[in-house]
Amino acid sequence: MTAALAKFKKPDLRSMREDRSPAKVEIVALSKSYGRQHVLHDISVAVVPGEIFTIMGPSGSGKSVLLRQIAGLETPTRGTVTINGLNPCDPTTRDRFALALVFQAGALFNSLTVYENLALYPLERRIYSKPKIRELVMRALQILSIENAAHKLPAELSGGMKKRVAIARALVMEPQLILYDEPTSELDPIMSATIAEIIGTLKEQFSVTTIVVTHDRELSLTISDRVAIIHEGRLRTIAPPAALRHTTDPVIQDFLNPQIDIQHPRFRKMEANHE
Ligand SMILES: Nc1ncnc2c1ncn2[C@@H]1O[C@H](COP(=O)(O)OP(=O)(O)OP(=O)(O)O)[C@@H](O)[C@H]1O
Ligand SMILES: [Mg+2]
Repeated sequence: MTAALAKFKKPDLRSMREDRSPAKVEIVALSKSYGRQHVLHDISVAVVPGEIFTIMGPSGSGKSVLLRQIAGLETPTRGTVTINGLNPCDPTTRDRFALALVFQAGALFNSLTVYENLALYPLERRIYSKPKIRELVMRALQILSIENAAHKLPAELSGGMKKRVAIARALVMEPQLILYDEPTSELDPIMSATIAEIIGTLKEQFSVTTIVVTHDRELSLTISDRVAIIHEGRLRTIAPPAALRHTTDPVIQDFLNPQIDIQHPRFRKMEANHE
């Protein structure tokens, strides 16, 4: 692990962006259904500016759906999401905060090089000159220790490198809020530890609010200021990692038990036994 972490340069990100404060995210009484399928039920959460807030839960519990509502990619069926008081779905207010989403599967354009993937958003927005964009992109690649991959295509990268490219692309957006969907999925423990380190360092050095959706207990308990546990579309609890370890809720105890695979369908049956 030390070798992998040693390769990751502790960045000084302050020079990379203009001063912007971390975003405040408020979710109030949010429900989401697709037709008759009710996925999320009455979720209320206030994410404090600058914190790392993790949403943990088993597969199919509604984590990615919740993240899509926060990112403004979908409209909640009931309830509201606001970022700095603004509706993320509203195209007229969206540009007033900077949000970056690191997708579960990376979502890189396969026909574009890593450099082109990163430069796409600032080029489209035309807010910076080409030399400034080059500087931003190369700096982000350098921070993630993947500058040698600038001219590679996504297909030529390992899983861990793809994740780092996806995070570098988020950095180029100079975000006040970064949303990560399963940043460590399909990675080995060493690369997962590197990604955890990166997320923590970005939070410390880059004035940013971080929301991480994951079923990775280790990641969640290591990096989070607070953890929300979501189960079958309902919020079970919100607590700092240390407080979670003292819970008397048997479902949460199961969540924290490394002997239990929370991704396994059996987990649902176990909860049925508790109630
Ligand atoms: N666009 C959609 N239309 C209909 N149902 C959907 C849609 N998106 C998600 N769902 C359903 O919502 C539920 C929650 O899905 P979601 O992707 O949020 O799970 P998840 O907690 O992110 O799981 P994983 O850990 O496997 O990524 C699933 O039953 C899924 O089938
Ligand atoms: Mg998901």
